[in-house]
Amino acid sequence: MPKNILSVENLNGGYEVFVGRRRVFVHAVDDVTFSLHNNEVLGVAGESGCGKSTLAKMIYGAIIPPLLVKGGSISITTKGGEVLNINKLSIDEVRRKIWWIEISYIPQNSMNVLNPLKRIKDQFIDVFRYHGIKMDKTETVEHLRDTLTTLGLPPEVINAYPHQLSGGMRQRVVIALSLVFNPRIILADEPTTAVDVVTQRTILSLLKEWRENNKSSLVLISHDMSVHAYMDDRIAIMYAGNVVELGSSLDIFKEPLHPYTRALIESLIRKGDKSIRKGLAGQPPDLINPPPGCRFHPRCPYVMNICRSEEPVTTFLDNDRYVRCWLYTSSR
Ligand SMILES: Nc1ncnc2c1ncn2[C@@H]1O[C@H](COP(=O)(O)OP(=O)(O)OP(=O)(O)O)[C@@H](O)[C@H]1O
Ligand SMILES: [Mg+2]
Repeated sequence: MPKNILSVENLNGGYEVFVGRRRVFVHAVDDVTFSLHNNEVLGVAGESGCGKSTLAKMIYGAIIPPLLVKGGSISITTKGGEVLNINKLSIDEVRRKIWWIEISYIPQNSMNVLNPLKRIKDQFIDVFRYHGIKMDKTETVEHLRDTLTTLGLPPEVINAYPHQLSGGMRQRVVIALSLVFNPRIILADEPTTAVDVVTQRTILSLLKEWRENNKSSLVLISHDMSVHAYMDDRIAIMYAGNVVELGSSLDIFKEPLHPYTRALIESLIRKGDKSIRKGLAGQPPDLINPPPGCRFHPRCPYVMNICRSEEPVTTFLDNDRYVRCWLYTSSR
């Protein structure tokens, strides 16, 4: 089994949209490179609009206009050991070979994706049919009950309609749906943002336990750094479409390097600390016309001349830790 299950290299893309009559491009993901290891939780953190969901859609191969991939590659090693370049596959191939089986996707606001007119068990059966998986009905229902119980849901849930369930239960049903074929990669986009803090912790713990038992890898997208502190083995910090820093959760929280990472961590509330949290001044940039040089430079407290005109190069501290910031480049 290779160490990396998925490799993303120099990925570029975004949305082609019209502003009035003018066709413009939203540069939502720009030159993103990272690998996902076997059996790990990789967090993706960053403020709203920095491209987290766009990156997830690209990895899932859900490239449906106006979303476009303009360059780079996403390769996955399948359960059978085949290496597939996701962005070279047709949407039909992605559906057949990747979705649910290799990669499951829990989209943002997913508790609303359930069909209100169908009982939970029928929604699962539809997914089985869609993949041509032949299981008799009793066997399917049995498998379902097991998956739901793993996520702390009572088995009766299978006969319920979505509106009969609380938000937290619906969210767990969606997560259960994503786990039903035992995928090796789960992309979870803000899986607990819409539920209360206690339910959030329960759901995250169950997801964590399921992943450990099944030795899958989880890409966990969240703007909430406390979720990352609880869940992640490694973290990728995104700003305005770039991954500006990547490293182990331990290193990132102990010694954040990029000024943006530091600002995100400083915004966390710590036990016993009564000081007023300093928010980061300013807004993330417009991704139709991102600033030249480092995209963070207009908000950076350490800005230098070079940052205003030249894109920072990536400085590797070791294989699994990098930062994109002129402060760490000896050739500046
Ligand atoms: N369908 C779309 N059409 C055009 N632009 C889009 C579309 N979806 C997202 N964008 C833009 O792409 C950029 C990245 O958005 P994305 O949804 O990936 O951010 P995010 O980090 O997931 O944000 P959030 O934390 O709010 O979910 C933003 O500028 C957003 O406005
Ligand atoms: Mg999002």
